[in-house]
Amino acid sequence: MNNLLVVNDLTKKYSQGNVLARVTITAVDGISFYIKPAEIFTLAGESGCGKTTTAKVVLGFEEPTSGTILHNGKLQTPKEKVWITEGVQAIFQDPFSTFNPLRTVDRYFFETVQNLKLAVSKGQAIELIDQKLRLVGLTYKEFAGKYPNEFSGGQLQRISIARALLSNPSLLIADEPVSMVDASLRMSIVNLFKNLRDTLGVSILYITHDLATAYYVSDRIAIMFRGNIVEMGTVEQVLMNPRHPYSKLLRDSIPQADPAKRWTTTVTLSELEQEEYLRQGCKFAGRCPDVMDICKGVVPADLDVDGVLVKCHLYSDTQTT
Ligand SMILES: Nc1ncnc2c1ncn2[C@@H]1O[C@H](COP(=O)(O)OP(=O)(O)OP(=O)(O)O)[C@@H](O)[C@H]1O
Ligand SMILES: [Mg+2]
Repeated sequence: MNNLLVVNDLTKKYSQGNVLARVTITAVDGISFYIKPAEIFTLAGESGCGKTTTAKVVLGFEEPTSGTILHNGKLQTPKEKVWITEGVQAIFQDPFSTFNPLRTVDRYFFETVQNLKLAVSKGQAIELIDQKLRLVGLTYKEFAGKYPNEFSGGQLQRISIARALLSNPSLLIADEPVSMVDASLRMSIVNLFKNLRDTLGVSILYITHDLATAYYVSDRIAIMFRGNIVEMGTVEQVLMNPRHPYSKLLRDSIPQADPAKRWTTTVTLSELEQEEYLRQGCKFAGRCPDVMDICKGVVPADLDVDGVLVKCHLYSDTQTT
């Protein structure tokens, strides 16, 4: 089967600072990945590693500095935003900012149905809306005529997912969709993604810094660090048996049942983000417990280690292909 999305050697540079002290950082640095039909692919990594930038470029909201994006084999160009025709929908972090507080949420649904000519009568529109709402565990009856503040954050996020489903997308891009949802409801929302994958065959690009939900929901995962994918493979391979020192560190920072290990803060938001972005060699060298001399000067290659992509000098001798 053809890949739904192919991202090839994607780079996005940004200028930061003022006129006097301008620096260019490579927010996304030559990353490549694909997403198959009916697959949940996760981009994970700490704040500022380039996850949202990747999503924005894939969605055509930002132009890549270099590299290509193919949706269903069709090349995205500045002129042709093929993600629109290829059925890509986005779900954002804050469901409350998705909807205007002064408008009833059903109006958004009717507008989408009308704009995309998805129904010929109001009755048919209601039927379609009800069908999509039921996919996320709600009904038209309990939602009609209500304002955003009459729903909880979790319900509103479900509603924005239902709205994204109106046009039968083949790919959903969900950027931190549960980080603003009450912790107790997070799993139910990510579980919904799995259900949608299984019942509708939709693919999901799931973006998160939370490896617990990532482990639960993903088929494959890529760990990002300062613009690079440092490890990528099946979620079992990458999270149960991480190879890259950064993946290990990130995994160990997941809250553990062991109280002594709980909330270890080995991975903290670096104040040296810019310094790391500008670093020669491996960007993780400054924090890596296994750092070697070569890491400080030479960018590691993308190595294939037992079918997992690992961007780390530790494995240069053990490459299997
Ligand atoms: N429009 C912009 N102009 C300049 N720099 C930017 C811009 N957007 C993002 N950046 C920088 O690019 C880097 C990656 O940012 P990005 O938002 O993609 O990270 P992220 O992984 O989504 O982080 P988070 O988990 O906090 O959402 C950061 O250093 C950020 O400051
Ligand atoms: Mg982000």
